[in-house]
Amino acid sequence: MKMLQLGITFIILLEQVSGEGQWCYSSQNPACGPDHWKDISHNCGGDHQSPINIEKAKVKRDSDLGNITFNGYDHAPSAEWKLMNDGHSVLLSLSGDISISGAGLPNTYKALQFHFHWGSPTKDGSEHTVDSKQFPLELHIVHMNAKYSTVTEAKKDPQGLAVLGILIMVGEADNPSYSPLVSAMKNISLEGDYVLMTPTFPLESLLPAHGKLSRYYRYQGSLTTPDCSQAVIWTVFEEPVTISRNQHRILTDTAHFSSQGETPVKMWENYRPPQPLKGRQVLASKDATVSCSPGLCAPVLTLCMISLAARILLN
Ligand SMILES: *[C@@H]1O[C@H](CO)[C@@H](O)[C@H](O)[C@H]1NC(C)=O
Ligand SMILES: *[C@@H]1O[C@H](CO)[C@@H](O)[C@H](O)[C@H]1NC(C)=O
Ligand SMILES: [Zn+2]
Repeated sequence: MKMLQLGITFIILLEQVSGEGQWCYSSQNPACGPDHWKDISHNCGGDHQSPINIEKAKVKRDSDLGNITFNGYDHAPSAEWKLMNDGHSVLLSLSGDISISGAGLPNTYKALQFHFHWGSPTKDGSEHTVDSKQFPLELHIVHMNAKYSTVTEAKKDPQGLAVLGILIMVGEADNPSYSPLVSAMKNISLEGDYVLMTPTFPLESLLPAHGKLSRYYRYQGSLTTPDCSQAVIWTVFEEPVTISRNQHRILTDTAHFSSQGETPVKMWENYRPPQPLKGRQVLASKDATVSCSPGLCAPVLTLCMISLAARILLN
């Protein structure tokens, strides 16, 4: 018993030392919500934090940001996948040879896990916003630079991790690709609950339409949960994915932050609000549609037409 107590004290001390003490979302307890994260991990107050608001009028096109090469995204791995309620989100640990490369990434990045952020059945909850528009949910697929074998190492390198952000909106029809996840939700209602998913599904089926994957935004940022390591090359797809209202309700209204025996608190609003850009430039991929602000479009268009007319006349 003494040994056990000693062990528990030691673990608590370790947690404090590593700077990953108790953190939460304000919907669970305002005292440990996002405003307080910098007190438990100084990274969270850094200059390259995520998520951000993507302002279309301020992004800069980079023609080097070509298509992403997806490896192993197109078939269901034979290994089982563990989907769990980790007390902050619903997280699926990936196994099998899945990776991404190309698209301006300095190396191959191995897929580790994916998880979601959301609001509630009646409130939007994506982390990234586009022109201040928040979406109902956001999917994050987390990858690690292949030159590392542990996340601890990767988190020390600004190019250590690559996360794909997929914005999810709500429409009429069920999205069959999301059905296995939706139906597993009831089995992971409490923190620590998990299910083993077999058969699995191709990861590609969770992404936006194939023809739209070359349209994305890129910037240098951080993990959106403590310890907020500034080690992430972010790729946020322009095209959202659509799920049905019923799927949205089940995804957002089934899980709890709390574990067995605790007062149940619905897992609602598990997103961090947008962080200041602090001088960072958001890039748009070669194929992204870069819009101009209403005040700018007309003059640009006029200039284009004048130069076209001039060229025709000169010829
Ligand atoms: C989910 O739980 C139900 C019982 O509540 C069980 O019948 C079913 O097999 C479980 N599903 C998985 C994938 O474990
Ligand atoms: C990039 O992807 C888009 C959409 O899938 C496709 O139309 C285009 O041909 C691809 N470009 C290259 C260079 O492969
Ligand atoms: Zn996330």
